[in-house]
Amino acid sequence: MVFNVLLYTSLFVFISGLIYKISTWFSWKIGFSSRGISKSERLIAAFKGMIRVIFSAKILILFKVFILDVMCQKRILKEDFLRWAMHMLIYTGFVLLLLMHALDKHITSFLFSEYYSTLNPFLFLRNFFGMMVIAGLAIAIYRRFILKVPRLKTNSMDYYAIIILAVIMISGFFLEATKITSFSDFERMVEEFSDVDEKEDVRALESLWVHEFGTVSPDLKEPFELKLLEHGREIHEANCATCHSSAKYAFAGYAVAKIINPIALLLDRAGSSNILWYIHFIACFFGLAYLPFSKMFHIIAGPISLLANAVMEKERSHPANIATRQVMELDACTHCGTCSLRCSSAVAFDALDNENILPSEKMVSLKSLIAGKKLSSKDLKAVQEGIYLCTNCDRCTVVCPVGINLKELWLNVREDLIQKGYPEPLLLSPFSFVRGLNRYDIPADEYYKPVEAAKQAVAGRFDSLIKQSPLILKGGGIEEFNQLSGDNTFSYCFSCNNCTSVCPVVSSFDNPEEALGLLPHQIMRCLGLGLIEMASGASMIWDCLTCYQCQEHCPQNVNVTDLFFGLKNLAIKNVKKA
Ligand code: HEC
Ligand code: SF4
Ligand code: SF4
Ligand code: SF4
Ligand code: SF4
Repeated sequence: MVFNVLLYTSLFVFISGLIYKISTWFSWKIGFSSRGISKSERLIAAFKGMIRVIFSAKILILFKVFILDVMCQKRILKEDFLRWAMHMLIYTGFVLLLLMHALDKHITSFLFSEYYSTLNPFLFLRNFFGMMVIAGLAIAIYRRFILKVPRLKTNSMDYYAIIILAVIMISGFFLEATKITSFSDFERMVEEFSDVDEKEDVRALESLWVHEFGTVSPDLKEPFELKLLEHGREIHEANCATCHSSAKYAFAGYAVAKIINPIALLLDRAGSSNILWYIHFIACFFGLAYLPFSKMFHIIAGPISLLANAVMEKERSHPANIATRQVMELDACTHCGTCSLRCSSAVAFDALDNENILPSEKMVSLKSLIAGKKLSSKDLKAVQEGIYLCTNCDRCTVVCPVGINLKELWLNVREDLIQKGYPEPLLLSPFSFVRGLNRYDIPADEYYKPVEAAKQAVAGRFDSLIKQSPLILKGGGIEEFNQLSGDNTFSYCFSCNNCTSVCPVVSSFDNPEEALGLLPHQIMRCLGLGLIEMASGASMIWDCLTCYQCQEHCPQNVNVTDLFFGLKNLAIKNVKKA
C-alpha cells in the first residue's frame, strides 16, 4: 500500500516534471534569435523538422550518432579515458539494474519464466551491475575531490547526483546483506516452503544455511559436522534449491553480510531490513521524482542535444528550432567542465577570478537567467564580463560531449546581455569585432544603442583627464578629422594591443596610463568611436617619438603614427582658431 502510494506519487511527479521541462524548451526565450517567435510556431517547426529528418537520408546520421555518441560515448572517450570509464560504468550499470532488477516484474519475469531474484545468473548479475555503478561513483569522487581535475567545479547539483546514486546503491547492498543474515527470514521461508517438522531436519537445514548462505542463527555456530551438512543439503535440494542459488554469488551483498555478521542478530530483531527497504525505495522514488529538475535530466536532454545538433545547420534550420534547441541545450549540459578546460579565455579566469569566464560556469548562470531568476547587478556584471571576454574561438563547441553548439549560444545570448547595460567591456573585448561581423543580424537601433552607452561610459571615465589638456579639441568632429587626415584606417583596429606593447614610450613608464592619458590602442578605439576630443586630449600623441614601431607591427595596417600626426595637426589648428 505505502509502496504503491510512493511509486505512483513519484511517477506522477516525474511525468509532470518531464512535461513541464519539455514545455519550457518551447516557451522560454533565449537571447536574440527567439524574439517574436511564438510557442506554437516553435512546436510546429520542431514537429516539421523531426518529420523531415526521419524521412530523409539524415536518419542515417541520427543512427550513427546514436550508436557512437550516445551509446558508446565516443566523444568522452576521446577526451579522457577515466571519465569515459566512469560514465559507462554508472550509465550501463544503472540502466541494466533498472531493467533487470527494478522492473523485474515487467521485464525479467516476462522474458524468463523461471525467474527468481534469488537465483543465478540474476543474483550474480544484480551484484555485478550494482558494483559497476559503485565503481563509477568511486571514479567520479576520485576525479572531483582527489585528482581535482582542473576547471572541474562542483556545485550543489553535482553533490546531489553523487549522493542520491550512492544512497540507492549502498542501501541496496546493505538491504541484501541484512536479508542474507536474517534469521527471521529463514524461519519464515522454512515455514512457507518446506515440509520439514523434525527438529533434527530443521537443525540440518539451518546448519547448511549458516555454513553456505550466510544466515546468522542465534543457536547454531560453525564448525558443523560434515554429516549434518550433507543431511541439510538433501533437505535444501528438495525444498529450497529451485529458488535459491548460493548467496556467495551475491558477492557484494555477501561480503557486507560477513562484515555485519557480529551484529546481525541485533539488526534482524530491530527489523533493520524493513528500514533499509524504505530507505532504498524512497531514495529510488525521490531520484525518479526529482530527475527532471536535477542535473540527471541530462540523461534525457543530452542524447536529444547530440541528435539535434548532428542534423541541424545554422543556415538551413528554422530560427524557431534553433531557439528551442538552445533552451534544451541548457538542460543537456552536465557541468562536466570539458569546455572550460579548452577555453582560450580561461587564462583570464586565473587573473580576474570571475567564474563566469569559464564556459561551463557561464552555462550555469545562463540557466538561472533564462529561468527568470533575478541576478544581482554584481552577478550580472560578472556574467557579462565572462561573455564579452569570449574570443569566439569555438574550442568549447568542438569538445562538448553532449554536442552543445556553445558558439552559437554565446553569440545569440550576448546581444541580449549587451542590451541589459554595463557596456564598457564591449569596447575592450574581442567581441566588438565579432559583433561587427554579425551586425546585419541585429536591428540598426539596437546595434548602436550599446555603442552609444559604451561611448558615454568610456568618455565619462576619462573626463577628468581630457580637461587637463590645453590642446583639447572642442567641437571638432570625426568628419573634420577625416577631411584633414584623409586616413580612416583606425576603423580596422580590433584592439589587439600590439601597438601599445611595442611602443618604447609606453614601456618607459611604470604607470603609462597615468602618464600618457591614453595608450596607442585606446586612442585608436577613441577614433573608432568618434571620440576625437578624448583622443586629442591624451598626452600620448605629444610624447610619441614617431618611431613607427606601432604602425609597422599592426596586423590590421592601421596607420597609428600617421593618425597621431593627424590628431596633432588638428589640435594645433584648433589652438590657432581659438
Ligand atoms: C518459490 C521460491 C522459493 C523457495 C522454494 C524458497 N525461497 Fe527463500 N526466497 C525466495 C525469494 C524470492 C526470496 C527473496 C524475497 C525477498 O526479496 O524478500 C527468498 C528469500 C529467502 C531468504 C532471505 C535471504 C535472501 O536472499 O533474500 C532466506 C533466508 C530464504 N529465502 C530461505 C529459504 C529456505 C531455507 C528455503 C527452503 C526451505 C527457501 N527459502 C525456499 C524464494 C524461495
Ligand atoms: S568560444 Fe569563447 S567560451 Fe568557447 S572556448 Fe572559445 S573563448 Fe572559451
Ligand atoms: S557545455 Fe558541454 S563541455 Fe561544457 S560543461 Fe556543459 S556539457 Fe560539459
Ligand atoms: S610611433 Fe609613437 S606611439 Fe608608435 S611606437 Fe613609436 S613612440 Fe610609440
Ligand atoms: S596594433 Fe593595430 S589593430 Fe592592434 S590595437 Fe594597435 S592599431 Fe589596433
